[in-house]
Amino acid sequence: MLKNNWYVACDATEVPVGKPKQVQLLGHKVVLFRDSGGAIRALSDICVHRGASLAEGRVTDGCVECPYHGWRYNGEGACTVIPAHPDVSVPKRVRVDAYPVAERFGWVWVYMGGLPEAERPPLPDVAEYTDPDRRAVRGSFLWKANYGRVVENGVDFAHAAFVHPSFGDRSRPEIKEFEMEEREWSAHARIAMRPPAFRGLWKRLRPNERPDVVARPEWHVAGLAIILRIQITPKWSNVLIDVNTPIDEHTTLTHWILLRNFFTSKFFDRDTYKRNIKIFEQDHAVISKLTPTELPTRVQDEYSVRADGMMVAFRKKRAELYRRGWGLDSHAYERDYQGRKAAVIASPARREDPKGWVFPEAPELVLPPDRLAAD
Ligand code: FES
Ligand SMILES: [Fe+2]
Repeated sequence: MLKNNWYVACDATEVPVGKPKQVQLLGHKVVLFRDSGGAIRALSDICVHRGASLAEGRVTDGCVECPYHGWRYNGEGACTVIPAHPDVSVPKRVRVDAYPVAERFGWVWVYMGGLPEAERPPLPDVAEYTDPDRRAVRGSFLWKANYGRVVENGVDFAHAAFVHPSFGDRSRPEIKEFEMEEREWSAHARIAMRPPAFRGLWKRLRPNERPDVVARPEWHVAGLAIILRIQITPKWSNVLIDVNTPIDEHTTLTHWILLRNFFTSKFFDRDTYKRNIKIFEQDHAVISKLTPTELPTRVQDEYSVRADGMMVAFRKKRAELYRRGWGLDSHAYERDYQGRKAAVIASPARREDPKGWVFPEAPELVLPPDRLAAD
């Protein structure tokens, strides 16, 4: 898994005033709470005193209060009060890692890493999100699958003909056009596909001549986001914003927003929601059973063809980030730490003061060069 990246933890509405909330990102527990100004804060959810979960405590004076002995931590992660010794000033080392937080698309994004702002991957922009002519439906989906498999599936179009009868046609599976552009923090493609004719209400969208559907998928490092624009007719299109959060190596939580500019009355929301969940369920049936469960680190460990370009680009980018030291060795973590020793993902404050912390950093993924993606 990749540290030093932004991940969506939850909807902003899931963090109420006055009550902490626990989320899990990259196998690590994080507590979210609102400070006295109402801003959402994110801290490592392991109290440095005796390891209690701060999320089980309460919010007092803009701080999160540990449920065990009442130590209070502010939004920067510094302990402000040790109730058993009110006269002693709290040592600097009594602190937990505090992670940068952003809100976008109604979601809480947490930066699970230690790099300064200029070195963090940029959050994706989606102009259609604020388009008043679009209607949004939101949801989430929990995958029993590795995040890398989920991301690749999201930018894979050749599977539609075989997995999604509602928009793919197994008698016409060819990818007719495929263009792709790789950028520093994202990749963008344009793909023309032949869809099946729709029945019933959907016939109004596309009468029987069955024109090609043009899809423009993007993946972004930040949030492991996928932005998918599907042009159904010259006027009608869907835009899917889908972010993929690794809960651990085997579990991925997707938050999604589908923005449509047709059938925009509320009446059609339920149908749109159900249709999208059904698509995820069709994907889940396949990608929860892939071997190996995790995405291989090398491109050549599986056979790829031209239509897989977006996936190959993702694997290469991930390998490049591993080379930069962004990888978390979750297997070493499970083996050497879990249940025995606390370890956390380093926050930006550790740069200035790498030694003054109670818990060590989680082990970094170090792969020998030949195990990294080859060109
Ligand atoms: S464990 Fe948190 S205050 Fe003791
Ligand atoms: Fe799919």
